[in-house]
Amino acid sequence: MQVSFADARPQGAHVLALLVAGGGTAERLGGLDPAHAAIGRRAIAAARFEGEAGGIAELFVPEDGEARRVLLTGTGTFAKDGTGGFEKAGGALAARLLTSGETDLVIDVSALDAADPAQAAAHVALGAVLRGWRYDYRTKVPPKSKVSLTGIIIVGGGPRAQAVWDALKPLADGIAFTRTLVTEPANIIYPESFVERCLALRDLGVEIEVLDEPAMAALGMNALLGVSLGSERPARLLAMRWNGSGAAGDPALALVGKGVTFDTGGISIKPAAGMEDMKWDMGGAGAVAGAMHVLAARKAKVNVVGVCGLVENMPDGKAQRPGDVVTSMSGQTIEVINTDAEGRLVLCDALTWVQRTYRPATIVDLATLTGAMIVALGHEHGGLFANDDALADQLRAAGLASGDKLWRLPLGEPYDKLIDSPIADMKNVGPRDGGSITAAQFLKRYIEEGVRWAHLDIAGMVWAAKPGTLHDKGATGYGVRLLDRFVADNFEG
Ligand code: BES
Ligand code: MN
Ligand code: ZN
Repeated sequence: MQVSFADARPQGAHVLALLVAGGGTAERLGGLDPAHAAIGRRAIAAARFEGEAGGIAELFVPEDGEARRVLLTGTGTFAKDGTGGFEKAGGALAARLLTSGETDLVIDVSALDAADPAQAAAHVALGAVLRGWRYDYRTKVPPKSKVSLTGIIIVGGGPRAQAVWDALKPLADGIAFTRTLVTEPANIIYPESFVERCLALRDLGVEIEVLDEPAMAALGMNALLGVSLGSERPARLLAMRWNGSGAAGDPALALVGKGVTFDTGGISIKPAAGMEDMKWDMGGAGAVAGAMHVLAARKAKVNVVGVCGLVENMPDGKAQRPGDVVTSMSGQTIEVINTDAEGRLVLCDALTWVQRTYRPATIVDLATLTGAMIVALGHEHGGLFANDDALADQLRAAGLASGDKLWRLPLGEPYDKLIDSPIADMKNVGPRDGGSITAAQFLKRYIEEGVRWAHLDIAGMVWAAKPGTLHDKGATGYGVRLLDRFVADNFEG
């Protein structure tokens, strides 16, 4: 989608969207030509349109001897919806027009009387670009479902609109990067090819370090490597370093992602129905890669390292068995009761490695870790676990501000006891009840003294069965915006 900004509405064929604020201003008809006000009023009544964010009233008006398609599009009120209302408006327009046959859209924000028209224009663009993102392997698409919309011109944002958009565009690019990684099937994205895609971040100034299996074996990462035993695809540990603070030294923050490029469950194999979903079991790693993309592209003033534990979990003659005992890099031993509880086995070694290598004061890990998280929170919040209340509050606030919402769950000694094993330091599963919490307790055993740590279980957020305001069905890009906001609010300036 091509986005540009202009001072005046262009001539020629296009759909015209007029943005309308909620809260009783809809009567002004969003700058509609007074000659067409009667049609506008009728369209508004027919659509029961009140300027609500993402609401649309459609009409056709005569213009230049043609019938111009006009979409009155609501932004809600700034007091209630903030810039999110502009994004919803852009998203609703993209959803309505993407495969409509229309190729060009002009969005006029001038009738909004926005306090900051440049912000309004740029966030409308962001909403449209995010909602318009598509990934499609079909070679025979019926004409009616082909993407037609190619260009958006936004009018009325004033001279700063382009600059505000330039500052937001890295976010859209980072989210698209994540969505692509998450959407690609497991025959395309596996540990080595995931790393290869991330090499593109070098162009943005990110330093890439990759550990192969011999390197990981030498470090004693037997928990991560055990998961990979059944796969023909060799495992990788990927580290992406962005040094934007201007000062040398250890990164203040480490982001760690679960990158299981396909999760069959291993020998504790999953049921066939729905197993195809497990191509997105690398959503945590995808979010970390996308966040690194954003931070580097916008030259964030922070030193940060993003680490992805990349493996494929397959059943095979060489695969790890239930009952196996492995020694993790930390030295702690694990009884592998269930080979389908593999994410924590991957993350524990990645967590140890990043702490020993980079000594970060703060770690945030992201993982599609447990089905139980989806049972608890559905698809509205990611689960948040933390060993530090201030860190939890920072992440929760970033979640609210970014739209990638989080809900905190408890940790505690009584939960921790549930993963004690009679023959090893711990087992990799607890009882069914509280399954997301015992998974978090497992990870907590790998966090060293004095390190602030949060674990985000994003199993319910990575993939959407239904379209949302800023995404189609499929990969959401959840976590990228959250991490960008978390860094901007707490680690820069
Ligand atoms: N990747 C799954 C968790 C998952 C399930 C994510 C559904 C998204 C959708 C994870 O590796 C897993 O299999 N977890 C098991 C843990 C159990 C064996 C303790 C689960 O949740 O059933
Ligand atoms: Mn699993
Ligand atoms: Zn998994």
